[in-house]
Amino acid sequence: MNARLALVMACLFALTATSACRKKSAAPPDPLRRAYDVETDWNDPQKMIPLNYQEAQGKRLFYADCVWCHADSTPAGPSNRSNVTPAPPLMNDGATLNGESDEYLRNIIMLGGSAMGKSAMMPPYGQTIGEKEANQLIAYIRAIAQPPYQPSAKPQSGYPAKQ
Ligand code: HEC
Repeated sequence: MNARLALVMACLFALTATSACRKKSAAPPDPLRRAYDVETDWNDPQKMIPLNYQEAQGKRLFYADCVWCHADSTPAGPSNRSNVTPAPPLMNDGATLNGESDEYLRNIIMLGGSAMGKSAMMPPYGQTIGEKEANQLIAYIRAIAQPPYQPSAKPQSGYPAKQ
C-alpha cells in the first residue's frame, strides 16, 4: 500500500468515526419553546396561527400588558374585561380593528384613549413601551384578527392625535 492510499484510508476512517460520534442525543422537547411561535385562534381552538418574529414579540407584550382588558380569559384566570365600561374590544375583533389604520392603533396605544377622543379607560403606554413595541403589538393584532386582516380591503381611517 503506498503512502497516499494509506492517507486516504486513514481520512475515510476518521470521517466515519467522527460522524458516528456526532449522533445527536435526543433532547427532551421544551413545551415553552413554541409558546410565542403560534397563537391559538381565539374563535377556533383547533386552529393554530403561526407567528413571525415581529408578531411573536407583540404576543409577548400583549400577554404582559393588554390581555387583562382585551381578552375574556387570561393566563391567570378571568379577565377584567367585563368590569370595564365601555367594554374594550377583544384584540382579535377584526370587524372593529381591521378598519383602523396602523397610525390610529399606534396613537391609541402610545397616547391612550382620551388623547384619541375615546375612553380614558384605555391607558397610554407611551412612557413604558416605544414605537417599536407598538408596531410589534400591531403586527400581532393584525395576525390574530378574525375575520382576517387584509391591508387593502378597506380604505383606512385616519385619526390624527389631538394637538
Ligand atoms: C385597563 C384596561 C385596558 C388595558 C390594560 C388596555 N386597554 Fe386598550 N382599551 C381599553 C378600553 C376601555 C378601550 C375602549 C375605548 C373606547 O372605546 O372608548 C380600549 C381600546 C383600545 C383600542 C382601540 C380600539 C378601537 O377600535 O378604537 C386599541 C387598539 C387598544 N385598546 C389596544 C390596547 C393594547 C395594545 C393594550 C396593551 C398595550 C391595551 N389596549 C391595554 C382598555 C384597556
